[in-house]
Amino acid sequence: MRKTTENLLEEIRSKALEMNLSQQQVRIVELVFEHRTIAEIAGLLGITPDPYSYDALEPYIGRRTVELHYSRHHQSYVNGLNEAERQIDEARRTGDMSLIRYWSREIAFNGSGHVLHSIYWTNMTPGGPRTPGPLLTAELRRVFPSFDSFQRQFTAAAEQVEGSGWAILTFNPSWHRLDVLEAEKHEDLTQWGSVPILVVDVWEHAYYLDYQNRRWDYIEAWWHLVNWSDVERRLALAMMANVPLT
Ligand SMILES: [Fe+2]
Repeated sequence: MRKTTENLLEEIRSKALEMNLSQQQVRIVELVFEHRTIAEIAGLLGITPDPYSYDALEPYIGRRTVELHYSRHHQSYVNGLNEAERQIDEARRTGDMSLIRYWSREIAFNGSGHVLHSIYWTNMTPGGPRTPGPLLTAELRRVFPSFDSFQRQFTAAAEQVEGSGWAILTFNPSWHRLDVLEAEKHEDLTQWGSVPILVVDVWEHAYYLDYQNRRWDYIEAWWHLVNWSDVERRLALAMMANVPLT
């Protein structure tokens, strides 16, 4: 007999209890079942970050920059992701795959934009710890001669991104190693499987009002805002991931 959605949800709930999933994780599974888009789920669960007021990052990043960046630029990626997911759902329903290349690119661009901006907002805080946590310190030591050397490479990567993009500290759970990557736009130059744990947005919309074309000054100021507790949390979670290559 075909299971009803209600039967399936009930099964998921009891399975989730067995697996010790949190209430929020259970709710996510339920929302996926209700065919909500990823961005809708994030919104419904309050996951989309808004952890501080628009002026909280001053004097390093001005109120107007944060407001426009969060409420217009980031929002447009969320909207774009929702629209692409709707269109792809529609293509699956009708079987018309003629525009699938376009919508796949939209999913990659807007989805990556939403992911990176969400990490960017939580990677910053007005008054967090000024130094990396013990886990990150240990992992950095394995690949960089010193913390300064890591900072120099990350800053140079951010400074040298061609056009609009990001510098990203990643941890790859397949071979347990930190790396510094650049992304052009949000999704080009990605390494598959790597997990971003610290990101800086170097699209001009992130700094132009405050620093005009002085990207270097913005990056220097941004270092004062890094939320090392958040980076530590993200690293710990990435290290627990089990992603075998073969
Ligand atoms: Fe941005």
